[in-house]
Amino acid sequence: RPGLVIAIDGTSGSGKSSTSRGVAERLGLRYLDTGAMFRAMTWWLLCEGVDVRDVAAVAALVGRPAIESGTDPLAPTITVDGVDVSVAIRGEDVTAAVSPVSAVPEVRARLLDLQRDVIGAGDIVVEGRDIGSVVWPQADVKVYLSADPDARAQRRTAEQGGTDVASTQQSLLERDRIDSGRATAPLTMAEGAVHVDSTHQSLAEVIDRIVALAGAPA
Ligand code: C5P
Repeated sequence: RPGLVIAIDGTSGSGKSSTSRGVAERLGLRYLDTGAMFRAMTWWLLCEGVDVRDVAAVAALVGRPAIESGTDPLAPTITVDGVDVSVAIRGEDVTAAVSPVSAVPEVRARLLDLQRDVIGAGDIVVEGRDIGSVVWPQADVKVYLSADPDARAQRRTAEQGGTDVASTQQSLLERDRIDSGRATAPLTMAEGAVHVDSTHQSLAEVIDRIVALAGAPA
């Protein structure tokens, strides 16, 4: 369908990125990783030496960096002031700071505008925490993707080539706690969302399921 928008929200490490990119690829849609935008903002604040726990300082600076997201599911890119930060935003320092930064209302308002600009043209799979609830509640298909913490931690650790499953799990759960508990646009299952639990499903199975939902949206 022309203008199709698929919103995929869920907890950290639930497989949103692989799933969203796979669905976009299968359906010939664009792809937007909104988490990468929050990470890019966080990366920039850290580079500027801003104390990310200082809400007023963060709020005062949100308008400064130019953040641009590519929408090719095969090669997602993100730039800050023209610099490609796709790799840098996956660093541990950014991962540890991103949830507090994302809880600041001014950060969300700034990125919401950028997100809606990209989504407006349609034909896109968008992943995040609040896409179906706040950013684009009118999405044609809304998915809430989850998986057991053990499964998430194991997959994420393997992905990163690490071995410390326990500390990965702790980091995922800490982000979930902050993301679900914040006042502005908390992580939640949006009205009308289909809950997909990927704990015992392969990536291919989850993608098939969402592709099927897109063929027959509720
Ligand atoms: O998806 P990813 O794990 O890369 O997202 C990083 C962080 O960005 C999340 O833990 C959350 O704090 C924030 N985020 C958000 N709203 C979104 C997407 C991500 O608050 N729509």
